[in-house]
Amino acid sequence: MDKIRFGVFGLWRGEAFVQVINTFKDSAVLVSVCDRLEDRCKQAISICEKAGVTGVKCFSDFDSFIDSGLDVVVLCNNFHMHAPYAIRALKKGIHVISECTTGSTIKECVELCRVVEETGCKYMIAENYPFTNSKLEMARLCREGYLGIIQYAEGEYNHPSDESELRYLTPYQYHWRAWMPRTYYVTHSMGPLMYMTNSMPVTVNARAVHSPQLQQFEDFRPNYDSMGMMFCMMDNGALFRFSGSSDLPTPSGYRVVGERGSAECGRLVPPGQVYAHYNHWQIPEGMSRTQTYNPVKTEVMRKAENFGHGGGDYYIIYNMIEALLHDTPYFFDVYKGAAMSATAIYGWRSVINDGKTYHIPDFSNEEERKKVEDDDLTPFPKEDGSGITLPCSTMDAKKQGYNIGI
Ligand SMILES: NC(=O)c1ccc[n+]([C@@H]2O[C@H](COP(=O)([O-])OP(=O)(O)OC[C@H]3O[C@@H](n4cnc5c(N)ncnc54)[C@H](O)[C@@H]3O)[C@@H](O)[C@H]2O)c1
Repeated sequence: MDKIRFGVFGLWRGEAFVQVINTFKDSAVLVSVCDRLEDRCKQAISICEKAGVTGVKCFSDFDSFIDSGLDVVVLCNNFHMHAPYAIRALKKGIHVISECTTGSTIKECVELCRVVEETGCKYMIAENYPFTNSKLEMARLCREGYLGIIQYAEGEYNHPSDESELRYLTPYQYHWRAWMPRTYYVTHSMGPLMYMTNSMPVTVNARAVHSPQLQQFEDFRPNYDSMGMMFCMMDNGALFRFSGSSDLPTPSGYRVVGERGSAECGRLVPPGQVYAHYNHWQIPEGMSRTQTYNPVKTEVMRKAENFGHGGGDYYIIYNMIEALLHDTPYFFDVYKGAAMSATAIYGWRSVINDGKTYHIPDFSNEEERKKVEDDDLTPFPKEDGSGITLPCSTMDAKKQGYNIGI
């Protein structure tokens, strides 16, 4: 294969991938970018020029963009609109890297899995949080058996914002961030745990918490819960507990606990380091009962750490290039992506149905897909504000007669 031809759709988040793609000068080339906002296109082109990359085409319309001669498209458009564009690209034989989330409804997840299978194209969810040095080390400890059989794991993605940041992140009335229930942005807390332990969710139940502080901003942001906490039984028999995106004023953290020991990063552990603790009778050779350390960096990590999210952004593009050039397997395929989206979606159903337990379908199984293929309930409005079929906050759910447990 000659150089892999990339395009980036949506240039707010997409800017980060423009930078990363431009560094793979031997194996990849950025052919085109697309955003309906002219300033974002200009900014992307300026980033390219600074990197000495010329000739990148700029489009404002997806149809012309997708026909500009691409092997891979990176979808960084609105959170709840990834699946329809992924399907359009896949049907043209173009591989897809999609920002989180995979599908904003169960129906979209089902459709997308079928199209990936029909086209044989690669689909990767751009879940970047597992690919930091500390989380890769935690994955190694799990994989190499240091912790024993995994029993429990927890992850939190906390991103508290003041009013000016809330307004900046929610630029217009029907923007997805304004309507997104707290369980929906689940991949950054759940994804790393799945990756570390190589496991999939089987059931979810959840609760969410109302925030009077956030309700002050209900005029432009109707999703004024502070957090949604999900509990999943996993296919390895373990219990996982993780938030979606939370507004809580505490650092994000991840912990994984096996029968022999546990490992964690974030929260009280210094950035980049891992805290590991073992049963006193099961201390692995060369380790102490308790240690906090800087894991060794691989050559890839040394390149990656110059890019966003502790190197995670670099790994997304690197993993796709490796998959296309060398058929290297990658973790976050369409089934993992659909399972995470389904956890987010059913997690919210659980919140508004008194913590009821929901089964997460195996999206690789057509019989299971068939049972849920028509489920298109959504809290997200269309561009004109129509189409909402679910409340997006616990208090609104309560007013509409749902049981939120209080
Ligand atoms: N993984 C991460 O670390 C991370 C970080 C930030 C955002 N994201 C994800 O990236 C995605 C985008 O988020 P964002 O923060 O950039 O905000 P956003 O959704 O507001 O930005 C979307 C961009 O796409 C453009 N766009 C949307 N539809 C278009 C269309 N039909 N034609 C042309 N342009 C179009 C918009 O003009 C805008 O610039 C979301 O899914 C978000 O979850 C991920």
